[in-house]
Amino acid sequence: MRRPLIAGNWKMFKTVREAIGFAEELRNVVKDVAGVEIVVAPPFTALHAVADAVRNSNVGVGAQDLYWEAEGAFTGEVSPGMIKEAGADYAIVGHSERRRLFGETDASVNRKTRAAIAAGLTPIVCVGETLEERERAETLGVLDRQIDAGLEGIPAGQAAGLAVAYEPVWAIGTGRHATPAQAAEAHAHVRARLRQRFGADVAARCRVIYGGSVKPENVRDLLASADVDGALVGGASLDVPSFAAIVMAARPAAL
Ligand code: PGA
Repeated sequence: MRRPLIAGNWKMFKTVREAIGFAEELRNVVKDVAGVEIVVAPPFTALHAVADAVRNSNVGVGAQDLYWEAEGAFTGEVSPGMIKEAGADYAIVGHSERRRLFGETDASVNRKTRAAIAAGLTPIVCVGETLEERERAETLGVLDRQIDAGLEGIPAGQAAGLAVAYEPVWAIGTGRHATPAQAAEAHAHVRARLRQRFGADVAARCRVIYGGSVKPENVRDLLASADVDGALVGGASLDVPSFAAIVMAARPAAL
């Protein structure tokens, strides 16, 4: 019942020109793909150009971050309304690089998630444990804390559209992905927590996607688990053939 979501997080890669070239090529390659929600998240500078380049296609556009205020003296920040107006419908929130390098906390993730929903953006809220936390067997507790604090105060009626990305920090950009069993355990746990917070109906509709070294070669195994509803893809989303191969693998007919 959940449509798989494949989102490409470009991070700080691609100029406007490169982004447009990618978007035009991707929309052509995936034009006949049905049953998969496809999203690319370019840097802010390319958001509007990419949204233009994929208009009237089955490719959606997301921001990699946002700020929670509508406007004001917040140098360097971008508001949910600006993102929406630039043509995006999604926003990644709380990526581990933002948490680790830019001081993002569960509290800021919460404000950003609420602001994204209020602006009509679909938040893709990132959670996940570090290697030390996994080794100390704290993974499930970390996920509980990040979900509880990150999604606090969101009414069940607004939660069904949101996506949670389980991204073990040790798997991001390392080439070392979670095993399908590790992903299945974490995703089932996230789903159970969403059920506690929002009830069974809403939890059954939220997408819980996996991120961390997803490649065309491993995506099928990762998506095989019933609770893995797609992927947040970094490095392998930067080139059209590999991103398109991941999209193809997520088609309901391919699983
Ligand atoms: P990766 O990044 O696919 O390059 O590991 C994933 C992410 O950061 O979302």
